[in-house]
Amino acid sequence: MDFVTLNNGIKMPQLGYGVYQVKNSECERCVLDAIEVGYRSIDTAQAYGNEEAVGRAVKKSGVPRSELFLTTKVWISNAGYEKAKASIEQSLKKLGTDYIDLLLIHQPFGDYYGTWRAMEEAYKIGYLRAIGVSNFYPDRLIDLCRFVEVTPAVNQVETHVFQQQKKAHEYMLKYEVQHESWGPFAEGRKDFFTNPTLTAIGAKHGKTAAQAALRFLLQSGVVVIPKSTHKERMVQNFDVFDFQLPPEDMAAIATLDEGESLFFSHYDPATVEMITGLKR
Ligand SMILES: NC(=O)c1ccc[n+]([C@@H]2O[C@H](COP(=O)([O-])OP(=O)(O)OC[C@H]3O[C@@H](n4cnc5c(N)ncnc54)[C@H](OP(=O)(O)O)[C@@H]3O)[C@@H](O)[C@H]2O)c1
Repeated sequence: MDFVTLNNGIKMPQLGYGVYQVKNSECERCVLDAIEVGYRSIDTAQAYGNEEAVGRAVKKSGVPRSELFLTTKVWISNAGYEKAKASIEQSLKKLGTDYIDLLLIHQPFGDYYGTWRAMEEAYKIGYLRAIGVSNFYPDRLIDLCRFVEVTPAVNQVETHVFQQQKKAHEYMLKYEVQHESWGPFAEGRKDFFTNPTLTAIGAKHGKTAAQAALRFLLQSGVVVIPKSTHKERMVQNFDVFDFQLPPEDMAAIATLDEGESLFFSHYDPATVEMITGLKR
């Protein structure tokens, strides 16, 4: 496993396991499988409704808490200082832990400055080892970085071979914010797993399209958290540290970038209305 060092000196595994859209009934089993496979970083969120299942799996796994890296997120409905403070307590309780390794603001909407103040406070007390954001595109990220005391350690944004976020990446480097990908496989859109470029490059290294795609992001300095409910795929997605893509493969995959979201744009008014209206 490779690690990245965040701007506060904390080490984070560069590959983790994401549990978005993993049903509550399945989540405990999935996280236990992932930990057995070797994953040590788990990405959940209040809005996924499965923090308790993650917490149960962590306990059952028998792996010391200090060897695991747990990320969760504060949803918009808990934005603002007081609500976020209560929400942090709730997440700690649901995860059954006395600290969270990384807490992210899930969306750049609502009173996220109030949320950030509550997070800074909890960070200073030691309830949170690192604090960051998600879905903050350069305009919002720069604004936040300029006006807060603790600079976000991480920004988790849609990132995969079709949306490589090159400009956003530059700004994250500039402000020393670690780039983390959500949707590293674009959730399978655009026939991701049979893409001819990824398949051919994977085959050259005895690997799959999925593994080539993850390797591309890892070598681009991005943290990845692929999701799968299938143990054999968890194994496959974890097995990406024994090969290197040479510059010509990196360049070929770089040409797949379309520079646009395959899901939704945070700059589109209709999308903002949709996300801010979601009841979670
Ligand atoms: N911050 C945010 O707003 C945000 C948004 C979205 C996601 N996330 C985080 O990012 C994580 C990953 O993103 P994601 O879950 O949206 O999508 P993803 O990881 O890009 O793709 C998951 C899909 O790929 C399939 N899959 C996984 N490995 C495979 C393999 N080796 N071969 C073939 N198919 C494979 C999975 O199917 P099976 O499960 O059936 O195997 C699932 O349908 C999430 O779980 C979540 O933690 C965050």
